[in-house]
Amino acid sequence: MQLEGKTIAVTGAGHGIGRALARRFHAEGARAIAVLDLDADAAAAVADEVVGWGRGVDVTDEAALAQAIDDIEADLGPLDLFCSNAGIVFPGGVELLNADWQKMIDVNLMAHLYAARTLVPRMIERGGGYLLNTASAAGLLTQIGSAPYSVTKHGAVALAEWIAITYGDRNIKVSVLCPQAVNTAMTAGIDGGGVAGVDGMLEPEDIAEAVVAGLGDERFLILPHAEVAEYFRRKADDYDRWLGGMRRLQARFGEWPA
Ligand SMILES: NC(=O)c1ccc[n+]([C@@H]2O[C@H](COP(=O)([O-])OP(=O)(O)OC[C@H]3O[C@@H](n4cnc5c(N)ncnc54)[C@H](O)[C@@H]3O)[C@@H](O)[C@H]2O)c1
Repeated sequence: MQLEGKTIAVTGAGHGIGRALARRFHAEGARAIAVLDLDADAAAAVADEVVGWGRGVDVTDEAALAQAIDDIEADLGPLDLFCSNAGIVFPGGVELLNADWQKMIDVNLMAHLYAARTLVPRMIERGGGYLLNTASAAGLLTQIGSAPYSVTKHGAVALAEWIAITYGDRNIKVSVLCPQAVNTAMTAGIDGGGVAGVDGMLEPEDIAEAVVAGLGDERFLILPHAEVAEYFRRKADDYDRWLGGMRRLQARFGEWPA
């Protein structure tokens, strides 16, 4: 997909990777950009910057997200590309309360489902469309120190994969973005990005660069850190050996990078 002339929405676009995507899509000549974020002020500020449409929306509220999509399409026209990018992380494992698991499930996974549920039938009806879903390298490998992040990001990859398979012949295109550490609020205070930063910390603008290239090629898997492809191959080649390597990494970094 070339971005020039396209109508695009990005969630979690008030800060970080989402904001960098909105800015870069604008620079690529997108026709209109809708900026959605829980932080309404940040959404409005980025919308001003990219001559877009901004709203404070909680992506875990299905009705509010569907309403926002209705309003965007009424105001800007049919969406060519929808980016489910909002995400959260916190440390913890099996001991975390169900409510904490649910929070991460809702933002990192269910919100992708809600967007697809609203948009896929419409996109099919009008001949096609594109979904870009931000997962993480943790969705292909794991996140040392956070079980719900690993699980929800795997879920996000699985959902994107399923949509690509099921609706690909009806011209629904899907890419899933799987970076390691990126210099945003999410990694702020974690020196070097912690365990996710073993291959270096990228800037949000680097992620936007990789996304433009990945969308240009209509590639499913967008890997701004090229090493992730090799790790994913090694995992598939010999799962037990890969688990051993990850245990060594866990021992090196501890439970959660302090
Ligand atoms: N930073 C990293 O190292 C990294 C690595 C891999 C993947 N990711 C993923 O990239 C995406 C963007 O993260 P980021 O690094 O830019 O973090 P960030 O914290 O800078 O940005 C996340 C944005 O999502 C918004 N948001 C959170 N919950 C929301 C909700 N319920 N509804 C609407 N908006 C909500 C926040 O307000 C924020 O603007 C996330 O899905 C994250 O998991 C980040």
